[in-house]
Amino acid sequence: EKDQLILGIETSCDETAVAIVKNGREIVANVVSSQIESHKRFGGVVPEIASRHHVEQVTIVLEEALRQAKMDIDNIDAIAVTEGPGLVGALLIGVNAAKALAFAHDIPLVGVHHIAGHIYANRLVTEMAFPLLSLVVSGGHTELVYMKEHGHFEVIGETRDDAAGEAYDKVARTLSLPYPGGPHIDRLAHEGTPDIDLPRAWLEPGSYDFSFSGLKSAVINTVHNAEQRGDKIAPEVLAASFQASVVDVLVTKTVQAAKEYKVNQVLLAGGVAANKGLRAALTAAFSGLKDVELVIPPLSLCTDNAAMIAAVGSILYEKGKRSDLTLNGNAGLDI
Ligand code: KG4
Ligand code: ZN
Repeated sequence: EKDQLILGIETSCDETAVAIVKNGREIVANVVSSQIESHKRFGGVVPEIASRHHVEQVTIVLEEALRQAKMDIDNIDAIAVTEGPGLVGALLIGVNAAKALAFAHDIPLVGVHHIAGHIYANRLVTEMAFPLLSLVVSGGHTELVYMKEHGHFEVIGETRDDAAGEAYDKVARTLSLPYPGGPHIDRLAHEGTPDIDLPRAWLEPGSYDFSFSGLKSAVINTVHNAEQRGDKIAPEVLAASFQASVVDVLVTKTVQAAKEYKVNQVLLAGGVAANKGLRAALTAAFSGLKDVELVIPPLSLCTDNAAMIAAVGSILYEKGKRSDLTLNGNAGLDI
């Protein structure tokens, strides 16, 4: 049988990415152009700057991916593109590039949900074993997603306020650390002990929802109160205490949900999956649960990339999903 080749395009936030994936699981090319340097001095992603970068980069990144794969666009079976959620101006660049390519070369087009992409990054590591649970933790999302088969996503819990990565970035800003702050807090956390008692938002018993805004405020108040006393709290102690609270809630709820839903696999996904404390705590928690396989992708597949979009596109294309040229960017798209 002929190999299936999917070209993925991702421009939902601050990475312009194009990848080619063979048979849904094998990365043939994976190119990511990050804009972090341009957004750093503003302390966060500036939507208009993101869109301009995507316009400049998208064809360059596309050509580089085809060059890496030693392929011509006419070898591609379908083009998968992130249609949402994300920054609408940023999404539109990828969606329009994908539509232009699909139209000019008469290639099927498949719109993909960004979070489905993060989950399917795991399929580039190992085959999925259903039913499964995915903990998606990124700058924009914190969700527990249950899947009983390919293409079926049931959100069983989500954040009611800040996403985990957003909380990391805001706490980092309070400590005057550069954007994005997650990796800096993670590094600091390993230099300190979690001596400050910070809140953990368990919410109602049995709820798999999350809330991080109370924790974020508690950290900010702790810093300000200390300043007012003329005191300074050791940043590594604060980082360790904050991380302990986030990781405790994420891991406890994931373990509970994995047991209740009797899943075969737990897949970690999203940029915060790079967190060393989270990876270690999840690994420890699931080492005692012999019937559940924990999958943690390499860092390059946890942060935004287009291989994960092509991986979802492969399944959707196989299932017969086709988008037409009315495909639009949708900032608030539901999974
Ligand atoms: O998935 P991602 O690349 O983009 C979104 O779709 O949001 O996630 C980016 C987020 C940022 O908030 C960043 O601070 C966080 O992931 N992050 C981390 C770590 N590395 C990245 N958070 C905690 N610890 C890390 N090591
Ligand atoms: Zn993402």
